[in-house]
Amino acid sequence: MARLLGRTAIVTGAGSGFGAGIARAFSREGASVVAADLDAASAAKLAEELCAEGGHAFGVGLDVTDRESLDAGIAFCREKLGSLNTLVANAGIGQRPVSISDTPVGELHRQFETNSVGVVQSCQAALPALRTAHDASIIVTVSGIALVPRPQLYGYGMAKAATAYFMKSLALELAPERIRVNGLFPAVGETPMLAEFAGGSLSDEDAAAFAGALPLGRLITPEDVGNAAVFLASPKEAATLTGCALPVDAGRCV
Ligand SMILES: NC(=O)c1ccc[n+]([C@@H]2O[C@H](COP(=O)([O-])OP(=O)(O)OC[C@H]3O[C@@H](n4cnc5c(N)ncnc54)[C@H](O)[C@@H]3O)[C@@H](O)[C@H]2O)c1
Repeated sequence: MARLLGRTAIVTGAGSGFGAGIARAFSREGASVVAADLDAASAAKLAEELCAEGGHAFGVGLDVTDRESLDAGIAFCREKLGSLNTLVANAGIGQRPVSISDTPVGELHRQFETNSVGVVQSCQAALPALRTAHDASIIVTVSGIALVPRPQLYGYGMAKAATAYFMKSLALELAPERIRVNGLFPAVGETPMLAEFAGGSLSDEDAAAFAGALPLGRLITPEDVGNAAVFLASPKEAATLTGCALPVDAGRCV
């Protein structure tokens, strides 16, 4: 039995990595999906693939740092899906490690603009549609770094910690409206972003070292994150979960 049958969702950052994994998992479980990404072509390509597999999906280009672009993306969802009951605010940017002495203030602003304010604006844009839907919920892709810090990723880590705060705070504000808000907290993932965390390029040895540092000894896949997102999106399975920080991290944050 499909677990998200009849559900409608927009996934930001769905053109790559975890977002693509979430959109695939939602589609597999019967949801209608709008795959949204700054890279409109990659969002369209994913939507085509999902439709070819029998899903109901659309691609749209949008920029989570631009409110007008977000509003247009949500209007697109309403037009194509009729209603919107799930927002997955997943889009984000990575960062190369750099010492505090060499961290430009501009990089802090860049990180906050996408990884914090981009999430806030995505929620603001989607809320009017979510408020008119049944069993609405928001899922934010945060990061394990918001729970357990790492050195030399100041902008990324601080922006993600702020987003963790926002996710929980929003969960409290929206609870009286029965809109659930939860966060996925992945550890190092098998996605293009990992090369950024490795300093710009990723060798097999780097990937093995990242995997070896996790208690379960393997990287997090887009499928892992997609499966966790299906659980949080399910109004039945996750009925009482709100403000939940769900680690998808092979034990990193224990
Ligand atoms: N990969 C990891 O190790 C890791 C770990 C923890 C959390 N995360 C988080 O997971 C999420 C997805 O990351 P990923 O690893 O799949 O990275 P990725 O680089 O593979 O995918 C990110 C996607 O977001 C899109 N994007 C970037 N800026 C955007 C914007 N302004 N508007 C719309 N789309 C935009 C990109 O075009 C890209 O398709 C991010 O929030 C990231 O911070 C990643």
